[in-house]
Amino acid sequence: MRLIIAVDGPAAAGKGTLAKALAMALGLPHLDTGLLYRAVARQMILSGLDPASDDGEQTAHALQPADLLRDDLRVPEIDRGASAVATQTPVRAALLKRQREFATASGAVIDGRDIGTVVFPDADLKFFVTASAAVRALRRYQQLHGVAKPDQADLDLLAAEIEARDRKDAERPVSPLRQADDAILVETDHLDAQAVLAHALSIVKTRFAT
Ligand code: CDP
Repeated sequence: MRLIIAVDGPAAAGKGTLAKALAMALGLPHLDTGLLYRAVARQMILSGLDPASDDGEQTAHALQPADLLRDDLRVPEIDRGASAVATQTPVRAALLKRQREFATASGAVIDGRDIGTVVFPDADLKFFVTASAAVRALRRYQQLHGVAKPDQADLDLLAAEIEARDRKDAERPVSPLRQADDAILVETDHLDAQAVLAHALSIVKTRFAT
């Protein structure tokens, strides 16, 4: 089925995990749009540009598929860089076209911040995945460092960084992070990845009788 499913939410809420698993279960392509913003920030730095400057447009237009495969996109420098380039209207316009082209041919599960509101406002189904800042900080810590018991000071720092990025994403004038009116809210504080997937799949099945 050629479905377009939008999965939005704040940082480290588990939207990428859900989107990837949902795509696999439904046989759809998956696009992690955060990677596009991360890759623009990385390419700007490699060209000697500051991601916080207003100069990201050229880089966004010149982005190559291989730029998304780098293994240095999920580091704190790029968390901040992506969040800075994401405030630039011309960067968002350049990436919007790519996102729409990706999903239009065969459908897709796409995760990000503005998929249900701006990129695909007519998506067949929209999820808004969230969790408390404390839970999200713990998940991101475990994603970065494995299951070792974290130091509370490290967790507090991570939670503060995540909240600062969410605030910036939610307060920017262009395509801010917000739940679309017709998105289904999925609160994941007390749900593991499998439970979130099962919940989302049950909604897909009810909605589309697959
Ligand atoms: O994985 P995590 O939730 O930490 O972040 P991400 O999805 O990789 O996104 C990194 C940054 O890109 C976000 O903080 C946003 O500033 C930006 N972004 C955006 O503005 N719009 C999107 N559709 C996706 C990401």
